[in-house]
Amino acid sequence: MSQTILVTGGAGYIGTHTCLKLFEAGYEVVVLDNFSNSSPEALRRVEQISGRAVVSVEGDINDAALLERVFAEHTIDAVIHFAGLKAVGESVQQPLRYYHNNVTGTLTLCSAMKRAGVRDLVFSSSATVYGDPASLPVREGLPTSATNPYGRSKLMVEELLADVHKADATWNVALLRYFNPVGAHPSGLIGEDPRDVPNNLMPYIAQVAVGRRSHLSVFGADYPTPDGTGVRDYIHVMDLASGHLKALQWLQSKPGIKAINLGTGKGYSVLDMIKAFEKASGKRIAYQLVERRPGDVASCYADAQLAASMLGWRAELGLDAMCTDSWRWQVYNPNGYDTDNEE
Ligand code: NAD
Ligand code: WQD
Repeated sequence: MSQTILVTGGAGYIGTHTCLKLFEAGYEVVVLDNFSNSSPEALRRVEQISGRAVVSVEGDINDAALLERVFAEHTIDAVIHFAGLKAVGESVQQPLRYYHNNVTGTLTLCSAMKRAGVRDLVFSSSATVYGDPASLPVREGLPTSATNPYGRSKLMVEELLADVHKADATWNVALLRYFNPVGAHPSGLIGEDPRDVPNNLMPYIAQVAVGRRSHLSVFGADYPTPDGTGVRDYIHVMDLASGHLKALQWLQSKPGIKAINLGTGKGYSVLDMIKAFEKASGKRIAYQLVERRPGDVASCYADAQLAASMLGWRAELGLDAMCTDSWRWQVYNPNGYDTDNEE
C-alpha cells in the first residue's frame, strides 16, 4: 500500500514542487496550509500538472485540535514540514510572530505526531544556520549561528528536534539545510510567488526582466569575491524537491537525526546570475551597484558530499535550467497566481 505524507506548507513554493515529486513516486499526499503566504490556486495547478486530486486542509500548524483531527482522519506515515515564515527583514520587525509560527508551530506539530505515533520527519532548515560560514565549501559540521530571528528560529527547531530524538530514539529526522532555491516547474504553471517586493535575488531579477520593476539594486560590489558581488549556491527547486523524496526514503532505514546540506556545491555571483538570466530571457537586466545589505555574507556554497553519500542525491540542473524555468513561470504568470494582483 502506498504511504501517505502530511506536507505542511504544501501550497508554498518548495511544497508545491515537492507534492508533484511525491505524486510521481506513488505517495499519497495531505497538504496542511493556512495560505498565509500562498494561494489555493497553487494547489489547483498541482492538480492540473499531476492529474491527481490534492487532499488539502486549510489551517494552522499551531491549531492542536485541527492537527489531532488530521492525524485521526488520515493514516499518516511521515511528515514533511515546510510551513514557516521566511522573510529575514520581517523577522527582525516581528520576532514574536516568527517564533510563534516557526518554533511553537513545530512544537505543536511534533506533539500531534507523538500522540499519533508518527516519528518520521523531514524539516526545512536553511544554510542561514551557518551564519558567516567559518570555511568554504560549507560542511555540516561547521559551527552554527544566527544573526536574525528567522535564522534563530531554524536553529532553535534543529536543537529542539535533537532533544526530541535524544529522549526517544524512535524518531527519525532529516534536517535539510537548503542553500538558495530558484527556478520553477518546467511547465511554467507553478513557481515562486512573492506577495510583496521580492527580498530574494532571482524573483527580483525576473520581475525586472518582465518590466514589473525598473532595475535591480546589486547589494555590494566590494566583497572579497571574484567580481566583488555576493556568491551563493543556487539550487533548482525541482532538484530540491527530489532531495526531499530521497530524504523520505532514507528515513525508512531508521537513521536517527542528521543535518544534511541540499546545494549544488557551486557558487555564482550576483553578476553571474544577471548574465545568465539575460541569456535565458533575451531581456536586458538594468542594475545599479549600491551599498551592501546589512547581514549579508560574502560567500556561501555547500559541500554537497553528505547528501550524495547518505541520500544518493545530487543536484542535476544547472544555471541555464534555473533561469529558463524561472523566466517561463514569470512570463506565463506576470502577477503570480493572482491575475488581479496589481501593486
Ligand atoms: P513559502 O512561503 O512559499 O511556503 C511556506 C508555506 O507555509 C506557505 O504556503 C504558507 O502559507 C505556509 N505556512 C506558513 N505558516 C504556516 C502555519 N503556521 N500553518 C500552516 N501553514 C503555514 O516558502 P518556501 O520558500 O516554500 O519555504 C518552505 C520552507 O523552507 C520554509 O520553512 C522556509 O523557511 C524554508 N526555506 C526556504 C528557503 C527559500 O529561500 N525559499 C531557503 C531555506 C529554507
Ligand atoms: C542572494 C544574493 C544578495 C537581492 C536568503 C536568506 C536565507 C534563505 C535564502 C531562507 C546576495 C544579492 C539580493 C537584491 C542583490 N532563505 N541581492 N539584490 O541572502 O543568500 O539568503 O534567502 O532560509 O536564509 O537569508 O538570498 O536571494 O536574498 O540574495 O544584490 O535585490 O543576491 O546581496 O548576495 P540570501 P538572496
